[in-house]
Amino acid sequence: MSRIAYVAGQYLPHRQAAVHIEDRGYQFGDGVYEVIAVVGGHLVDEAPHLTRLHRSLTELRIPAPMSDAALKLVIREVIRRNGADNGILYLQVTRGTAPREHAFPKAAKPVFVVTPRRSRPPDPRLGQEGIAVITIPDIRWQRCDIKSVALVPNVLGKQQAREAGAYEAWQVDREGLVTEGTSTNAWIVTQDDAVVTRAADNAILNGVTRGAVLEIMRREGYRLDERPFSVAEARAAREAFLTSTTAELLPVVRIDGNPVADGKPGQLSRKLREAYLTHAAAA
Ligand code: PDD
Repeated sequence: MSRIAYVAGQYLPHRQAAVHIEDRGYQFGDGVYEVIAVVGGHLVDEAPHLTRLHRSLTELRIPAPMSDAALKLVIREVIRRNGADNGILYLQVTRGTAPREHAFPKAAKPVFVVTPRRSRPPDPRLGQEGIAVITIPDIRWQRCDIKSVALVPNVLGKQQAREAGAYEAWQVDREGLVTEGTSTNAWIVTQDDAVVTRAADNAILNGVTRGAVLEIMRREGYRLDERPFSVAEARAAREAFLTSTTAELLPVVRIDGNPVADGKPGQLSRKLREAYLTHAAAA
């Protein structure tokens, strides 16, 4: 079955789905996006994803392409037409198509695109065995809280991780504190069992998965500390893990080639991973 994408008002076969060469997303990275998981036909955490989409649009002063009700209909229609009961949906809104000029065009209409991907969740072995991360300088801008499509530093960082045989690169600010991964949020568990993750400031994307895991932790009474942590603290941690829509929750067992604790996924990470997978399946 050929894949169907939604592009600015039309449902088109994926191969024919295209935007104009003067789309501002293409020329300036002038747009925002969301990635939402679909599990058993249900959207995982749809509401916080749409809330964040609106926030990103507002911060960039891009008008919403349609009402929320219409947007939800389009999303469901893409799932239906693709029989995409398990996978991920990519949503993108750019400022629109206009002759190239930095300032906002007067008459551009936002271009909204929805594409499905029948991706499987990460290989369960990654959940069982854990993954490696490297650390790199955070060279991004000061509004990483906006889910902008301008992702070149993230692309370079992820490629560096791949070339080092790692799953992810944790970005480190000028103070030596970890901000986040290139497409995931970063967490550690300290020797005294506090779970630490950076507070959702302008230096990180406030991950929807992060929010769901925080919610689970609050409900189940975990010790939680929302503050930045250093690379040294991460290396000395009892456990480490990362979260995102596509990675779910994966234990981190090596940082820059050094094992975290005994180099095996920690107990807390494993428990939280199970709790998150249950949450996603029940969405
Ligand atoms: N990335 N930090 C960054 C920089 C991200 O790009 C993402 C998500 C996250 C985790 O956010 P969430 O839990 O809402 O997925 C954190 C998506 C999956 C991507 O770019 O493909």
